[in-house]
Amino acid sequence: MATSINQPPTRSTAPPVTVHRVLTGQKALVTGANSGIGQAVAIALGEAGADVVVNYIDGDASAEAVVEKIRKFGAKAYAHKADVSSEDEVAAMFARMMQQFGTIDILVNNAGLQRDSAFQDMTLANWNKVLNVNLTGQFLCAREAVLEFLRRGVVPSISSAAGKIICMSSVHQEIPWGGHANYATSKGGIRLLMESMAQEVAPKRIRVNAIAPGAIRTPINTSAWETRPAYERLMTLVPYGRIGEPDDIARAAVWLASDHSDYVVGTTLFVDGGMTLYPGFATGG
Ligand code: BGC
Repeated sequence: MATSINQPPTRSTAPPVTVHRVLTGQKALVTGANSGIGQAVAIALGEAGADVVVNYIDGDASAEAVVEKIRKFGAKAYAHKADVSSEDEVAAMFARMMQQFGTIDILVNNAGLQRDSAFQDMTLANWNKVLNVNLTGQFLCAREAVLEFLRRGVVPSISSAAGKIICMSSVHQEIPWGGHANYATSKGGIRLLMESMAQEVAPKRIRVNAIAPGAIRTPINTSAWETRPAYERLMTLVPYGRIGEPDDIARAAVWLASDHSDYVVGTTLFVDGGMTLYPGFATGG
């Protein structure tokens, strides 16, 4: 079916694909999994055969809805409320996962937020909040996961790797973003956290990678796509001519979590419709 390159903002344009059960028998934890990208990733991992812990901080009902969807695929799932920036809550979340699922094979470090403001007006509270959740949260969860991967090692019948970590970054690990200094700083930090971890733990057969989404249709950036003028402005930044859908990211996550990407280590996969290609230079410069 032919599609217009400038879809109405409400229409999903991620093409349907068949998900094979490439993650059967694996245990996954997805943080921030009751909305947006995290929700799509959690459901896709379940569809691919993984049992999934659905971490969230606000919204019990939406977390339960994600759990129900995952169970429909025949996978196990439960919701766990925890603040990823709290060391104690992260420790308790992993302790429960070890009790209920026995181990962890896949961590998707997804939880993140924005607290935008002009630089001169940025409060320390909003600086700290974004760095604590987006960056320190990834550190705390990754540290727990690596401890378990090291303890357990490779189980060849499950995966060629001793564990996989996927860090949700952003095009803003590369693209400076005025009005969002705290957010861009957190994503730049994720890049070197991911690469440093990847380098350090690869000899133990642990694969750490990142996904850098561009503009994806989620609640974090509603103002960028909900009206036609906003959508058209956004499209000047996206050479491929459509907004990303959460499923575009979920499919990348399933691949990075599976043995299909077994030789992919320390890489950031940009899923951004070409946003990082400096589209302004297509006709200028
Ligand atoms: C941000 C979105 C933004 C996108 C592209 C993401 O990391 O969370 O708000 O639309 O980057 O700029």
